[in-house]
Amino acid sequence: MNEYTYGFMDVLLGLQWGDEGKGKHIDALLCLDKDGKLRYHNVARFQGGPNAGHTLEVGKIKFVSHMIPSGCLNKKINNYIGNGMVIDPVILMDEIKQLKKLGIDITKRLFISDRATLISPYAPLLDRAEDFRKSRKGDDKKVGTTAKGIGPAYSDKCLRIAFKAGDILSKTFFDDVAIMRNYYGAILRMYKNEYDFEFNRDALMKRVNDWYRAIKQMRKLMIIDVGAKLRKELARGRNILAEGAQGILLDVDHGDYPNVTSSSTLPANAALGLGVPFQVIRDVYGVMKPYGTKVGGGAYPSRMDPVTEEQFREAGNEYGATTGRPRMCGWLDMPALIYALELSGVNKILISKADVCPAHEVRVVLAYKSGKKILKEFPRKLDSVTGVVTRKFKGWDCSSVKNISKIDLPSSLANYLHFLKNEIELKTGKSVLIESIGIGPERSQLVKWEK
Ligand code: GDP
Ligand code: IMO
Ligand code: MG
Repeated sequence: MNEYTYGFMDVLLGLQWGDEGKGKHIDALLCLDKDGKLRYHNVARFQGGPNAGHTLEVGKIKFVSHMIPSGCLNKKINNYIGNGMVIDPVILMDEIKQLKKLGIDITKRLFISDRATLISPYAPLLDRAEDFRKSRKGDDKKVGTTAKGIGPAYSDKCLRIAFKAGDILSKTFFDDVAIMRNYYGAILRMYKNEYDFEFNRDALMKRVNDWYRAIKQMRKLMIIDVGAKLRKELARGRNILAEGAQGILLDVDHGDYPNVTSSSTLPANAALGLGVPFQVIRDVYGVMKPYGTKVGGGAYPSRMDPVTEEQFREAGNEYGATTGRPRMCGWLDMPALIYALELSGVNKILISKADVCPAHEVRVVLAYKSGKKILKEFPRKLDSVTGVVTRKFKGWDCSSVKNISKIDLPSSLANYLHFLKNEIELKTGKSVLIESIGIGPERSQLVKWEK
């Protein structure tokens, strides 16, 4: 009888509103396991684009990846930009250059799907224009996007007018793009005439020129049928780690619409966004912080009071890795977390930033209030929430944790983690493992919690 050793795909994603520390956990999972073997040979992003900012810290190197998967610092790992992603050629080429300066030639280990969607030269401006239009009804109506052109690029894809990475190899590509200039120009004029949206024409021309230049450089990269390559890898028994961007609560269908991103952040989309059968998905890792953060618009019921928020922002360096915007900080929102866990089917939890606890006392949101009603579940629209019910926990101090072992973690942090696990298992009816606890941004600053 023949023996087949087909590979598997694990998916890692954020359980909150993004910036949970996904990059660091991906990088750590790519290290050799205790038997000296690689768990995965391949890391693949399946959705989003340069709205993501995933921070990697290895020794003295700090790198924030926006387009390239978080396997970029590990020379043993192949990295893939899947068909579900939207690509900004300028940002991609810039990132490749930054890696080169660090002594890493990623071009030999980077595979780009010929089906991935290009973010047009006009998309970032259209992104700003649309948020400007929304803000005319009041600043709270803004989505507060990253202005990287994500919404316009996904809408071009669904309108079937987008350019795909594979198209850039065509001789007529630049002529085909030029034909679209009138179309995008007309939309921009609409925003100007109807909504008084002003923009700098010189900056737009520079962006267009940069984009054309980057496309020419991109032609030298490996633009291939990524789905076919990944399926071959699986057939050889080699495993894939699918890298989620954003977070479950920013999912375009299941998040607090319209304060969401423009793609599906759920693990089910990993198969679609890479071109592999969904049955290959094995474990789903969910990354979370013991508190929360959010950037951009929309209600944020679990937000801390301003003084405590500032303490967490400073202690946790909570500033956007993509836009530099100060992140709002909130208490751990249990109804939102349970919703994210139930939707995503996460079976392994990875915690980041357990070392960030600048308060003697922390809170967990157990339920929401809507007028006189108590809501125990994440509602379709968060602006219906008027208050929260919280429970207090003793804070902790990890500064003396040196041995990086479970036993050294402060007892109040251990209590908090036990509460978390019990509450999750009680509410979701499923057992989960809390695998590791981040106690600093560097690759090695992880404590194994459960096996
Ligand atoms: P991502 O988008 O989910 O990859 O997260 P970001 O990179 O946007 O933000 C996470 C931030 O927290 C980065 O600055 C990381 O270097 C940092 N970080 C990750 N894990 C830890 C941790 O365990 N402790 C501390 N103090 N910082 C961490
Ligand atoms: P990573 O992968 C945090 C937020 C934006 C905005 C909304 C829509 O680093 O966790 P978009 O530009 O996607 O149209 O913006 O989504 N957002 C993120 N917030 N981390 C991210 O990515 C995000 N990507 C998008 O702030 O509220
Ligand atoms: Mg980020």
